[in-house]
Amino acid sequence: MIFQGWFLFLRFCSQFVKVTSSIYDMGLARKLERDEEEKQFVHCIQMAKDEAENERKVIMADFFLEKDQYFKKVVSLMESLEDSQGIKPEVNAVDGPKHKPTSSLTEVEEEESEEYEVMGQIQNLNFDFSDLCQKILETLMSMEMHLYEQIEETLANYERKITDLVNNFLESAQALFVSCRSLQTNFSEQLATVVPRFFNVTRARIAASKEIKQDIESVNIEQQENCFSIVPKILEECLESTDALQNAIASSHDIHVQMIDAREDKLISEAKNWLKENLSEHSRYEIQGNRERLYEIITVINKVKEEFEELQASLVTLPMLADMEIIDE
Ligand SMILES: *[C@@H]1O[C@H](CO)[C@@H](O)[C@H](O)[C@H]1NC(C)=O
Ligand SMILES: *[C@@H]1O[C@H](CO)[C@@H](O)[C@H](O)[C@H]1NC(C)=O
Ligand SMILES: *[C@@H]1O[C@H](CO)[C@@H](O)[C@H](O)[C@H]1NC(C)=O
Repeated sequence: MIFQGWFLFLRFCSQFVKVTSSIYDMGLARKLERDEEEKQFVHCIQMAKDEAENERKVIMADFFLEKDQYFKKVVSLMESLEDSQGIKPEVNAVDGPKHKPTSSLTEVEEEESEEYEVMGQIQNLNFDFSDLCQKILETLMSMEMHLYEQIEETLANYERKITDLVNNFLESAQALFVSCRSLQTNFSEQLATVVPRFFNVTRARIAASKEIKQDIESVNIEQQENCFSIVPKILEECLESTDALQNAIASSHDIHVQMIDAREDKLISEAKNWLKENLSEHSRYEIQGNRERLYEIITVINKVKEEFEELQASLVTLPMLADMEIIDE
């Protein structure tokens, strides 16, 4: 009798473990599938980024060449302006005129009209350069927008695929959990037929041992204990009441089913959380990358604009510095 219950238990264990290991093995296999999917996704995004990066580099290189041209032009215009200012009194000379007014009126007029022309050219250069910066900014921004659209598309694709993978995994896992539950039900049913018989027999043995005990009191205490010790202490109550035994079997079954259900729920909720977390992590990362690139574009263009302004500002002060005899030797 003991042997039969024990056999049922061992068989239940080995069948159960077989199912749970297949959940585990399947889980590992599906993880590899997800890793592969993620690898492709990352690769795809990286390619789009590299391509955009290369395009951006070409555009920036051209832009910097053009920028150098503008810088050179403005320097030479400013210098010619400075030259004409240099021989002219009271232009930009903050700390008073040092040059004697020697020029005739017409010479001054000629110089002034020349100066106006140069200043007009400088102003045009400024407009053109500002337009160029704006154009480059718009080009880079729209490239970045295009890149981000590609990333979003790839991300949506990844989301679809990885969600499918997770859902398929959960479906397969849930089918295996159904097997777990039916193994448990089967085990419990078989237990319900075998165990009462065992308790009947045990009960009979104990009764018999009590009779013997009444006959020869001193010798059979040990034998009596043996009979009791077959039944674990926690189940001794079941010896007296068949209801208690049925309840014990039923509640054991309930507890097992609850454990199986809880484990299934845990797997499902963890998988769903993982999915949500994984997707939002990727999207957070890409959004941040997009912001950083936009910030970089705006910063670089602004910096170049500033440099252009600073260059002119520094040139404007040249005649003044010359007057102060800092630059001229
Ligand atoms: C997202 O899932 C993939 C595939 O399993 C994994 O390689 C990656 O590390 C996960 N990333 C995050 C942020 O959880
Ligand atoms: C219980 O399992 C045994 C052995 O696997 C099988 O022979 C029997 O048909 C099952 N019974 C039920 C009710 O599923
Ligand atoms: C156990 O014994 C009781 C009476 O002693 C009997 O009614 C019952 O059918 C028995 N059960 C089994 C499973 O042998």
